[in-house]
Amino acid sequence: MAASADRVEVFISESRIRERVEQLGREIARDHQGQATTMVGVLKGSFIFLADLVRAVDLPLEVDFIGASSYEGTTTTGEVRVTRDLSRPVEGRHLVLVEDILDTGLTMRRLLDHLQAHRPASLKICCLLEKPARARVRIPVDYRGFLIGDEFVVGYGLDKDEQHRNLPYVGVVRSAT
Ligand code: IMP
Repeated sequence: MAASADRVEVFISESRIRERVEQLGREIARDHQGQATTMVGVLKGSFIFLADLVRAVDLPLEVDFIGASSYEGTTTTGEVRVTRDLSRPVEGRHLVLVEDILDTGLTMRRLLDHLQAHRPASLKICCLLEKPARARVRIPVDYRGFLIGDEFVVGYGLDKDEQHRNLPYVGVVRSAT
């Protein structure tokens, strides 16, 4: 079935996301005053969240990206590959890793181990969404947008088979079967 046949229902509205992102930005700015900070977006799902979040952090900062891949369609394989590394050294810098969603936590676990090897001064985690019911490893989240249930969500950067990333809200797919 073509993904365009999916019906997407609003789950978290644009205005709720905007309000929460502004709060998270203020918290990150408060915690990183005077620190050399790099915000690292996890490709591809964090790209919209990161773009909004960095504009809500009123501090000088650098932006970089890291790539990780574990999912094919909507099925987890349990195996996580780092597909793109940081573009600059971050030794001694304060990192905020920005992720779209924490599901099993396996991607984040892999990325934390990978980034620790770059010897940052600190490493904090910011994720827009977290599904605690699905956690397979414990990840200490420093900045969390929303806790959600075991639903597959799309929009605001998140995809299902590369579709729906450009929706301005987080939605739930109702397949038109
Ligand atoms: P984890 O390794 O199981 O925590 O999975 C993290 C990655 O899986 C996220 O970065 C997403 O790319 C993808 N993912 C997990 N749940 C969803 C979802 O509900 N919608 C879209 N992508 C998801």
